[in-house]
Amino acid sequence: MSNTSASQTRTPAALPGHIAIVMDGNGRWAQKRWLPRVAGHKQGVEALRRVVEACIERGVPVLSVFAFSSENWNRPVEEVSGLMDLLVMALSREVPRLSENGVRLHFPGDRSALSSRVVQGLEAAERDTAHNRTLVLNVCFNYGGRWDVTQAAQRLVQQGREITEDNLSSAMALAHVGDPDLLIRTGGELRISNFLLWQSAYTELVFTECLWPDFDAAELDRAMAEFANRERRFGQTAEQRAEVEPMAVAAGQQHA
Ligand code: IPE
Ligand code: IPE
Ligand code: MG
Repeated sequence: MSNTSASQTRTPAALPGHIAIVMDGNGRWAQKRWLPRVAGHKQGVEALRRVVEACIERGVPVLSVFAFSSENWNRPVEEVSGLMDLLVMALSREVPRLSENGVRLHFPGDRSALSSRVVQGLEAAERDTAHNRTLVLNVCFNYGGRWDVTQAAQRLVQQGREITEDNLSSAMALAHVGDPDLLIRTGGELRISNFLLWQSAYTELVFTECLWPDFDAAELDRAMAEFANRERRFGQTAEQRAEVEPMAVAAGQQHA
C-alpha cells in the first residue's frame, strides 16, 4: 500500500481525541504593544475561550492546557501574583459559561503551594462542572511533568503498590483521560518545558510562531491538519501500519 492510501485509511484517527497546548508567548505579545506582561496573560484567557469553543465545535473531547508551570514561581513576584489574581478572576467570570457549554474542569498540579483562596476556587470549579460531559478541560496549574511522575511514584509507595507502567499511569495527575494525541506549543520555542513528560511519549508535536493571545480557530485547524497528515507508528514499521492500519490505529490510541 502506498503512503497516500495508508494516510487515507487513517481517517478515523485524523481527529485527535486529546489536544494539549503549551500556551506560550503572552509576555512577548504584551511587550510588542508596550503593555505590561499581565495584559498578555489577560488576552491569553480570551484565546483559551476561543479554543475551547473551537474544540467543542470540532468534536475534540479532551483539551489540556499549561497555564502555570512548577518553574513559573521563578518569575518576578508581581507577575506571579498577577497570574494568581487572573486565575481567580477568570474562574468567577468563565465557569458559568463553560458549564453551560458542557465543559468539565480539572486543575492537575501541585496545590500544596497555592493559597487557600486559589485552592477554594479550583475545588469549586471542579465541583460545579463535574456533571458536564461535552469537553474535559484540564487547566494544568502549578504543574510539572517531573512533579507528576514523582507524586505518582510516592503515592504507589504509600499504598504499598508495585512500581509498574500501568500503576504509575493510573496514579498520574491526568489518569482520568488518555494520553495526548497532539501537543501544540505556541510562541516559537521548540521545547516541552516540563509539561506532560510521561504522557507525551507518543504524542505528535506541532510548534507554531503564533503568540498565544493571537491563537484562534484557524490556527487550531492548521495544527489539526498537520496532525491528520502524520503517520503514527508506535514503534512499528510503516509497512506494518499500512497492513493493519484500522486495527493498529485503534490499538495505538487505546495504548496512548
Ligand atoms: C506563557 O506566556 C504564560 C505563562 C508562562 C504563564 P509567557 O509569559 O511565557 O510569554 P513569553 O514567553 O514571555 O512571551
Ligand atoms: C511554559 O512556558 C509554561 C507555560 C506555558 C505555563 P514558559 O515560558 O514558562 O517556558 P520557558 O521558560 O520558555 O521554557
Ligand atoms: Mg514563555
